[in-house]
Amino acid sequence: MVLAGCGSSQSTLAPHSGPAHDIDTLWWVMLVGSTIVFGVVTTLVLVGALRRRGERPPVQTDTPLARRLVLWGGALVPLVVLVALFAFVLRTLPSTSSAQASKGRLTIRVIGHQWFWEIRYPGAGVVTANELHIPIGVPVRIEARTADVIHSFWVPALNRKIDMIPGKDNEILLETDRAGTYRGQCAEFCGLEHALMAFFVVAQPPDRFRAWLTHEQLAASGGPKQGREVFMSSGCGGCHTIRGTGAIGRYAPDLTHVGSRSTLAAGTIPNTRAELRRWIRDPQHVKPGNKMPALGLTDEQIDALIDYLESLK
Ligand code: CUA
Repeated sequence: MVLAGCGSSQSTLAPHSGPAHDIDTLWWVMLVGSTIVFGVVTTLVLVGALRRRGERPPVQTDTPLARRLVLWGGALVPLVVLVALFAFVLRTLPSTSSAQASKGRLTIRVIGHQWFWEIRYPGAGVVTANELHIPIGVPVRIEARTADVIHSFWVPALNRKIDMIPGKDNEILLETDRAGTYRGQCAEFCGLEHALMAFFVVAQPPDRFRAWLTHEQLAASGGPKQGREVFMSSGCGGCHTIRGTGAIGRYAPDLTHVGSRSTLAAGTIPNTRAELRRWIRDPQHVKPGNKMPALGLTDEQIDALIDYLESLK
């Protein structure tokens, strides 16, 4: 369990933004502070316990020295330590505050669902899922909302958590100068598959981000005919949207460019042919409780469907 904490793909201790650095520093200051306090208190307890064993004459407790020890060790030192740590917390709060979000030059709306992340770029008319692309060096305002229960949006490398509360609009700022892929995770228990509600933030140089966004704006065109017919005739479009087709469902992830995403089912499985087949054949086996039913398709139909979905780049 301890070793499991050493990975850096999703760690508060591997910060890649200003606020995340502040949180990381606070964490270390708290750890060092509490370690010193713990060490001193444990030593005093041990000294007391060992002295007693020696069966020496009873310790005088009502002396000026004893009273001074209680006053200093029990009141003054804790007061100074707690005030100092509290002051440090206050120093960290502003950089992680929601108020920072107003500095955002790009707004992205992230909507939590049981159990995936709907991602909207309101200015561009783009909708995607579970993969949040941002340009590096640009402050991004994340509008955090929910479609059902309480979720919590958390990318430890970039900022603190922000809860998604029904009926309330929350926001947080994401900004990083380092290109890379940062894993995020729902951080509020939201039902059976809370643990399988992950996402990725892909931070790209602005020109590559713009190219990605422009490509995402394109509607789906054509694709393998047989698979498209399976998709349209099996009811998939009742829940999923594929822009440019008759599929306009709003309950499930937008699939317009699903072939270009790296994972499926909110980071549950890699987006490969084999995993996609396993998913379509029996979604409840891969992620029990999710809202996608097994459609009872034949192997031939599933193959055609995979051809179609993979063509949606
Ligand atoms: Cu969504 Cu936990």
